[in-house]
Amino acid sequence: MAPLKGVTDHIFRNTFSRHFQGIDLAIAPFVASINGRKIHRKYINDLLPENNKEMPVIPQILSNSAKGFILLANRFYDLGYQTVNWNLGCPYPMNPEKNRAAWLLPHVDRIQEFLEKVVPSLKGRISIKARLGLRDNQEFGRLIPVLNGFPIDEVILHPRTGLQRYDGKPDLQAFEECISGMKHPVVYNGDIRTIADYQMLAVRFPTIERWMIGRWLLVDPFLPHAIKNGKRVGRNRAEKMKMFHDDLFEQYRDILNGPKHLLDRMKGLWQFFQFAFQDCRPGMEIIRQTQHPDQYKGVVDHFFQTHALCVTD
Ligand SMILES: Cc1cc2nc3c(=O)[nH]c(=O)nc-3n(C[C@H](O)[C@H](O)[C@H](O)COP(=O)(O)O)c2cc1C
Repeated sequence: MAPLKGVTDHIFRNTFSRHFQGIDLAIAPFVASINGRKIHRKYINDLLPENNKEMPVIPQILSNSAKGFILLANRFYDLGYQTVNWNLGCPYPMNPEKNRAAWLLPHVDRIQEFLEKVVPSLKGRISIKARLGLRDNQEFGRLIPVLNGFPIDEVILHPRTGLQRYDGKPDLQAFEECISGMKHPVVYNGDIRTIADYQMLAVRFPTIERWMIGRWLLVDPFLPHAIKNGKRVGRNRAEKMKMFHDDLFEQYRDILNGPKHLLDRMKGLWQFFQFAFQDCRPGMEIIRQTQHPDQYKGVVDHFFQTHALCVTD
């Protein structure tokens, strides 16, 4: 499961694993490093072991400070995690001044310096999640000789540039060139929407054994299981999706502070859920306009009764 900040928190991850099958592991959405301060439990609430009993998870750190990264990573290892993931892929926050995540990708020297400081000071292992570059699709390629010199568990690669965000298609040619030079195991990530997408990629990249899915898990939560089976199994998919939705709604109602936060969170999920349904625009508009949780719940119940799922395979 890919990290989706604001979406795939521990509530989502645990609930997903109770309702659906096929996901082996999640990378948690990033936690930004803090310089020189104690890390309070509340700050890493999403990664506390007691909140992560149902799905194996790897914490992810957003940082360009070796000191800050080491402090936070070692806190995670102390909690029992064996690996932490370094975010080198997010184009957000859109703040080039901070030179973090995808904004670091053009700076091979800074990445090398960072790893030279960080790797010997970690109590556990490190993996990386990256894109092809910030501005051009050759930047990650220039980084490969540096990455090959460090003990990195795996490299997750989304074959788009940071500035591209999600526009255009994943650049499979550039991905192919990258994996041929990489010493570390590579995970493919990007636009796996259907069994057919996965099968096409698996044929094209026979050395890839690990696959990451993000947005399309919310549109089609049956996809990971279907991919593993090579076909769709099970019936009553709309009903199962509604049970998943209702489970999330009840849990967020319990933990989020007030109706506005609850509605914001649920409407955020519909940014993705909507693509599972045919002709959903008018219904989505009504969901978007709801002002109170009870009203929201009534509107969503009606939506599920009146909208058919798109068939994706
Ligand atoms: C709302 C949202 C939040 C994201 N948050 C993170 C994040 O915290 N860390 C990260 O490495 N990538 C993040 N990503 C990128 C995804 O993990 C993933 O690389 C991307 O969505 C492409 O995969 P997909 O086509 O399967 O969705 C985010 C993407 C979205 C849409």
